[in-house]
Amino acid sequence: MTKNIAVIGMQFGDEGKGKIIDFLAEKADVVARFNGGNNAGHTIKVNDETTILHLIPSGILHKGKINIIGNGLVIDPKVLLEEIEKLRNKGIKVTPDNLVVSGNAHIILEKHIKEDKEKNKHLGTTARGIGPAYTDKVARSGMRLIDYINKNNVLEKQSFSGRRKSEAFSSDLKNIKPFIKNTTLLINNLLNKNKKILFEGAQGTLLDIDFGTYPYVTSSNATVGGICTGLGIGPKKIDKVLGVAKAYTTRVGNGPLPTELKDEVGKKIQKTGNEFGATTGRPRRIGWFDALMCKYSVIVNSLDAIVLTKLDVLSGLEKIKICIGYKHKNKIIKNFSNNSEILENCEPVYEELNGWNENLDGIKNFEDLPENAKKYIKRIEELMEIPISIVSIGPERNQTLILKKEFLF
Ligand code: IMP
Repeated sequence: MTKNIAVIGMQFGDEGKGKIIDFLAEKADVVARFNGGNNAGHTIKVNDETTILHLIPSGILHKGKINIIGNGLVIDPKVLLEEIEKLRNKGIKVTPDNLVVSGNAHIILEKHIKEDKEKNKHLGTTARGIGPAYTDKVARSGMRLIDYINKNNVLEKQSFSGRRKSEAFSSDLKNIKPFIKNTTLLINNLLNKNKKILFEGAQGTLLDIDFGTYPYVTSSNATVGGICTGLGIGPKKIDKVLGVAKAYTTRVGNGPLPTELKDEVGKKIQKTGNEFGATTGRPRRIGWFDALMCKYSVIVNSLDAIVLTKLDVLSGLEKIKICIGYKHKNKIIKNFSNNSEILENCEPVYEELNGWNENLDGIKNFEDLPENAKKYIKRIEELMEIPISIVSIGPERNQTLILKKEFLF
């Protein structure tokens, strides 16, 4: 029996992880985030009501789940409180019983946001202060939530350069205090009690600080290893690792995107797929599915299966392409490398498949998909060399086709 499932982005974030986590959360006991901060935007649509979560795990929309914000995150206290408030205004219960925040998570200060806005424009960051907060963490000059709790120890001292001591900041932290717990102890106790845990990844493998297209990456480990360091559990506790990939590629912000479409097809996909950032509203760049990139994600994360999302967006295209190689200096490269020299100067080698015209609304089984859509899925599966277990054909919970039950709880 699958006890714990990790959900990891296989591309540049925005793969539709929010929807899949919400779908899987129904049968989970705990949903835990381990990386990033409010640079993430997980969009969940339930009965025509859209909720975008930035910091709080997507399990919050289900009753009776414990949602954990791990030590691996960086937290803007104001944003966390606003998110709690917004959910409460929608009638969703958010209390220290169903939301727990690690005291070891680092705080995003105003100076971090300012620095991100001023210095990181060339990277196209979300300007939420993420990078500078992680920089201070690694430089050992950061401030953790626990440091506020131990305020005699830290908050009253003058040693934190640029620390906002305003009353508003202090009162934000006071309001967060009831949610702060030792989440490492908590999650390990829950594991010992055989509770089912869903690990909610943010961003994607190609934005990972170590494995992504550096320096055009985020400042945390969005890959599977981030779960261990971002929550304090061992790798053997992760039973299944699911990778989420869009049926095409999108990227917000700068950095290489070998399959980028700068034509009408790209515009059509952007419009149909509503490809605008959930956090910043920026238009997302569009590209064909890049099998090299996604195969790399399969390897880096030891993926067990793939969730393919937004297949419906490709309806109505005459031809659909899959990138199966990069042509660089007259050589064909078949394995992905995050060497920016190659990624920026290569030409994608494509395989072309026939598209389909049918709208996918109302389809409940894989078998009922148009033949060419099935062929597209099967070809991706072949190239990835692991099963596709779920195909998502729309934002609603019931627009989810299950191909393989063994990767569910
Ligand atoms: P940062 O995480 O704000 O430092 O931004 C670094 C890069 O990651 C930029 O290209 C952002 O657009 C991108 N990024 C960060 N978070 C997300 C996300 O949740 N989805 C998609 N892109 C993201």
